[in-house]
Amino acid sequence: MKHIDIASVLQDKTLLGSEVTVCGWVRTARDSAAVAFLELTDGTSFLRLQAVVDKAKLSLDPECTKCGASVAVKGTVVKAFKGEGAELNAAEVTLLGKCPGDFPIQKKRTTLDFLRTIPHLRLRTNTFSAVFRVRSVAAQAIHRYFHEHRFYYMHTPLITASDCEGAGEMFRVTTQPWDAKYESETAYYKDDFFGVKAGLSVSGQLEGEVAAMALGRIYTFGPSFRAENSNTTRHLAEFWHVEPEIAFAELPEVMEVAEDMIKSVVRAVLAECPAEMDFFDRFMEQGLKAKLANIVENKFAVLEYTHAIELLKKADVKFQFPVEWGCDLQTEHEKYITEQVYKKPVFVVNYPKEIKSFYMKQNPDGKTVAATDLLVPGIGEIIGGSEREADPDKLLAAMQARNMDLAAYEQYLDLRKFGTAPHGGFGLGFDRFVMYVTGMENIRDVVLFPRTVKNIM
Ligand code: 4AD
Ligand code: MG
Repeated sequence: MKHIDIASVLQDKTLLGSEVTVCGWVRTARDSAAVAFLELTDGTSFLRLQAVVDKAKLSLDPECTKCGASVAVKGTVVKAFKGEGAELNAAEVTLLGKCPGDFPIQKKRTTLDFLRTIPHLRLRTNTFSAVFRVRSVAAQAIHRYFHEHRFYYMHTPLITASDCEGAGEMFRVTTQPWDAKYESETAYYKDDFFGVKAGLSVSGQLEGEVAAMALGRIYTFGPSFRAENSNTTRHLAEFWHVEPEIAFAELPEVMEVAEDMIKSVVRAVLAECPAEMDFFDRFMEQGLKAKLANIVENKFAVLEYTHAIELLKKADVKFQFPVEWGCDLQTEHEKYITEQVYKKPVFVVNYPKEIKSFYMKQNPDGKTVAATDLLVPGIGEIIGGSEREADPDKLLAAMQARNMDLAAYEQYLDLRKFGTAPHGGFGLGFDRFVMYVTGMENIRDVVLFPRTVKNIM
């Protein structure tokens, strides 16, 4: 259908006085005997376009005034009666699709909980259309950042036989039901599609390292899967993962890229989505824009894990999980550090090797690894990364200590055998990042169709 975006009508001053056709959904309508006002949205703009219908000049199907109806309006673009923008003097209004009164998205505000039960319709609300425009702008900005810094975009496999994080949280990929005739797991998998146990990848890192060890700087941006039984506001079974990997780099350079990338994407979102960000600042998180402006202008804090433990032990707070050197930081600890102590993003570095993955570079102290998590207020961890162990003997020892199946990681070990080099990277949870920049408090509200424990609607 030949028509023009509402965003263009609202923004492009050269259109004043010309005749255009827009298509959209009616958000609200005011109807009287002489005139009707239809507020239209087509998804291209946070702001709505008002179409003014002079009923003396044209007959209006009453169905066109129903909330949710879809219409095409031909008319002349004129300066808005109120404010800066434009509106449309309608010459012709065509009903494209009726919307009966049981349309669940009515004018009055509904709750996010309720909207979660209608994922196919919730995008028609201001909140969700704004979230997904911001999500798209952020994703584009990530690609742009890496492209401009000569990181090559890699597509790593989603089906894999190796568990990157080693935490046993893989979904299984299989084509055959269990049968009691198999006397062992190995025998069962032998008959399966791949002939071995296969699963959905929790991370593209291992394959990303393969690419970085040839192309220098790479990144992946795709889904990762975790069969974590974590029913929280920040866990998904299927999430979007941004994973750069950099050859000839040590931990500080990895952190530099992470900080620089985050700042660059936040800047892009603030510049490209002003109306959305005003809305989130007003209705989702007061002070959001100031928070983000702060992020862009200030250096992130860096905190040694050992020091973090001391801070937590001194804290005047009763934590649910006790704190001791060697423990993993829980969300409550992460939030304390970034919300109470630093009030900005914090890189925690050099974690005990026992609580981190096999591939992380072992520090000379023999106790810690060159790992980092980036913690942010409101969410906790949004990035996990590290320098990788480049020494073949040390890597092998770490794998053996964890009883890993070395045969499954032969290629990974080969990278250390043939021209090993210092390298590292990180993984950004993109959905968590979208929460952070929009102020949305539940990860289910920044994903089109969230997949979580016992939910695949
Ligand atoms: O800390 P993680 O497990 O690190 C890795 O997977 C590394 N292989 C990354 C790398 O070095 N290339 O995951 C990285 C990030 C987390 O910080 C978090 O933001 C996000 O991925 N994440 C999840 N997001 C939503 N739901 C889940 N279940 C997530 N699990 C991890
Ligand atoms: Mg992590």
